[in-house]
Amino acid sequence: MPTITFITPDGERHQVDAKPGISVMQAAMANDIGGIVAECGGSAMCATCHVYVGDDHADRLDPVGEVEHEMLECTTSERTGSSRLSCQIEVSDELDGLEVYLPESQV
Ligand code: FES
Repeated sequence: MPTITFITPDGERHQVDAKPGISVMQAAMANDIGGIVAECGGSAMCATCHVYVGDDHADRLDPVGEVEHEMLECTTSERTGSSRLSCQIEVSDELDGLEVYLPESQV
């Protein structure tokens, strides 16, 4: 099963097993990873599942879609070139070892 590592602003690392087909946001919620709120439940309508994808991993993801791009304008923590909505990243075997950084704040 693919593993995803969530890294807190303090540098704590939490590695979880994530079933292919779920989103990175769902993997976080299923494993009680703090720092992701996901108010809209994964519909790309709240931007409270914002994460920063590690530089070494960004190329492994599908490009940011139009809706995701618009919602990323609404993040509480600064949007950067590595910002993504974790609800829009689908876990797959190809993403095994993905590292995502949690922002300071989601709301
Ligand atoms: S959970 Fe709302 S945008 Fe991702």
